[in-house]
Amino acid sequence: MIRVAAVGDIHLGEDSRGTMRWHDIDDRADMLLVAGDLTRHGTAAEGRVVADELSGCPVPVVCVLGNHDYHRNQQDQITVALRDAGVVVLEGETHTVEVAGRRVGIAGVKGFGGGFAGRCATAFGEPEMKAFVAATATAAARLRDGLDGLSALRADYRIALLHYSPVADTLLGEPPEIYPFLGSCLLAEAIDDAGADLAVHGHAHSGIEAGRTAGGVPVRNVAQPLIRASYTVINGVPTAATCPGPGGSPF
Ligand SMILES: [Fe+2]
Ligand SMILES: [Fe+2]
Repeated sequence: MIRVAAVGDIHLGEDSRGTMRWHDIDDRADMLLVAGDLTRHGTAAEGRVVADELSGCPVPVVCVLGNHDYHRNQQDQITVALRDAGVVVLEGETHTVEVAGRRVGIAGVKGFGGGFAGRCATAFGEPEMKAFVAATATAAARLRDGLDGLSALRADYRIALLHYSPVADTLLGEPPEIYPFLGSCLLAEAIDDAGADLAVHGHAHSGIEAGRTAGGVPVRNVAQPLIRASYTVINGVPTAATCPGPGGSPF
């Protein structure tokens, strides 16, 4: 069984020191995934608080940044602080965690918006619109490449870690008018094209926890305002379809 602790949207401020609670995470999970929006306003000072808080976590921590972490254009300083604290920060890269002799590969991107099938933004018209769609397409391509790379590395399980949602399923409860700013179907297409066992995202504070891509990959929204806990644990139970052999999902 692969046990993944996950949380997003912790939104720590400079007054948040000492607030992260790990409880018995090392008894309950093999790693912690953090799905972006680590800070409130995206300052380097907040990033140092996040780094100090996450450095106390007794299991490996892998994260992506969220839109809040970009707000002051200090995302690079935030990333350096996190990496100096031993936290893995992914933006188009991959990371592998060894769990009981099995390799769990994580491909991470922040992602971006654009909306979902039938109502999604297209690269048409003004250059601003083309730039908006291109940002999402680039993120999706990097996610696809990361998952393909994990496949080439023969990772036993592959997880897509995002801030923005790849599906509309987990946005239920959010105003439909803002769906295009909460995620994009291009991210789900990348996940389904490359294959994955699980996708984890945040950003949708008022959404719901569970969804699925059109290709059947389980999707979990772990935004902290939604899960109302320090983290949630996603247990991946190997099934006959996945262990051994291709297809299906252990999550
Ligand atoms: Fe958030
Ligand atoms: Fe966000």
